[in-house]
Amino acid sequence: MSWSDLKSRAEAAQGRPILDLFGTGDRAADFSVSAGDMLFDYSKTNMDAATRDLLIDMAREAGVMDRARAMFAGETLNETEGRAVLHTALRNLNGGPVMVDGQDVTIEVRATLGRMEGFARAVRDGSYTGQGGRITDVVNIGIGGSDLGPAMAVEALSPYADGPRCHFVSNVDAAQIADTLRGLDPATTLVIVASKTFTTIETMTNAATARAWMGEVVADPAAQFAALSSAQDKTAAFGIDDSRVFGFADWVGGRYSMWGPIGLSLMIAIGPEDFRAFLTGAEDMDRHFLSAEPAQNMPMMLALTGIWHNQGCGYATRAVLPYEQRLARLPAYLQQLEMESNGKRVSMDGETLEVDSGPVVWGEPGTNGQHAFYQLIHQGTRVIPCEFMVGAEGHEPDLKHQHTLLVANCLAQSEALLRGRSLDEARDLMAGKFEGDELERQARHRVFPGNRPSTTLLYPQLTPHVLGQIVALYEHRVFVEGVMLGINSFDQWGVELGKELAKALQPVLEGEADASGKDGSTRALVDWLQKRGA
Ligand code: F6P
Repeated sequence: MSWSDLKSRAEAAQGRPILDLFGTGDRAADFSVSAGDMLFDYSKTNMDAATRDLLIDMAREAGVMDRARAMFAGETLNETEGRAVLHTALRNLNGGPVMVDGQDVTIEVRATLGRMEGFARAVRDGSYTGQGGRITDVVNIGIGGSDLGPAMAVEALSPYADGPRCHFVSNVDAAQIADTLRGLDPATTLVIVASKTFTTIETMTNAATARAWMGEVVADPAAQFAALSSAQDKTAAFGIDDSRVFGFADWVGGRYSMWGPIGLSLMIAIGPEDFRAFLTGAEDMDRHFLSAEPAQNMPMMLALTGIWHNQGCGYATRAVLPYEQRLARLPAYLQQLEMESNGKRVSMDGETLEVDSGPVVWGEPGTNGQHAFYQLIHQGTRVIPCEFMVGAEGHEPDLKHQHTLLVANCLAQSEALLRGRSLDEARDLMAGKFEGDELERQARHRVFPGNRPSTTLLYPQLTPHVLGQIVALYEHRVFVEGVMLGINSFDQWGVELGKELAKALQPVLEGEADASGKDGSTRALVDWLQKRGA
């Protein structure tokens, strides 16, 4: 079994009508998976039973589940950085010990969770105050994995938010922090500096700006700062008291970190109980992933569908299309999770990959996307597999009809992609309005090729527990795809070069270093900017 077998199957399936696959048996039941109260349907793809068997064999041969058990057990899976990969330990509320270097890490994890809960409660009930009284606003300053998770989840779970307002600042662009702080009262604002390393230039620059802003009004700005970091020496040097520093170990990767201290802003927003429900959702998905047979395993089948589309059929991108507006930041969150994890060109042993790395992931909430880029998805020349998701119920019982309309739109899009509209149907549609050559021309514009693959994830309602399940589902999907590709999904060397060059360019732009070592284009761009005041 090999990648070439998979590609041969994809070639053979090209042009085969997906609708024909529904001809015998109950394909909808056979090509869907349940986990807890969620349903993942992949029947509207061009995968047949033999291809699924091949994919499952490939996963087995790659040792996916052995690697998964090794990950959960704390083995050093992140080989290029010599680290375990244990974000799952952060949500291991009900499981047994997890040993790293002879120590049970769950003891520390639970102690930190308890400290976070104590602090979150104090912020929420007003026993911790700012120098001007009860905390009204929380500003989380962080970037990448120290921003996207909590920012996405705070928005997703807004119906559960009953704490102070949460704001997120990530970009080093002064515009974002200026726009965020404008209108906030420094005396009632808590600033959370979220940075695993506490060296990230964007975060440290914004943290210094926030401290200066606060210092103009309050006597002791550092007393209204908390830090989420693995670098306690650096948080102390910044002046943040250890009682408000929440640490985590190096085996928590940035983009996998929202389950621990990086989730503090979410915990303050929704409260410790709902945060635990979020963790439990993820823990339930972990258990499902470890125990379900491959064909009944949701992360496995989501991943194998992804491998089929990307490495098999050669579709270079995939659209993630959550229909709920509150999941607006999910595509951005998944972009980091998937593309920083599986955007690698060499395998674990340094060899060039035999197949393409992970795909480009992109998307927007459902009906907005329909009025923007779905045109290309339906009638463009490239095939883009779509991953739809929607909840059965919303949180606005008085506006139930709007949620029904939302769900109808979601289902309609996957149906349209599947069946399309033939030239005959298009002709019939336009027959009353045009005739002859003009009818033919007009009809051609209204043809939908159809036969375009999509999957649909359904869940009962966007609760903390469900969000935990969804995020863990995608984490394990990335894991399965990464193991099959033979890559290290847990490092991110590809972000380093740009960081180094930016550091070197700052003094050039400030006129303190010369640009002579730069390429001709960069020199010209620097020159243009300097003449205009950069
Ligand atoms: O973009 C690289 C990266 O290291 C991400 O993986 C990480 O989530 C982000 O930067 C932020 O890092 P830190 O939490 O150390 O500030």
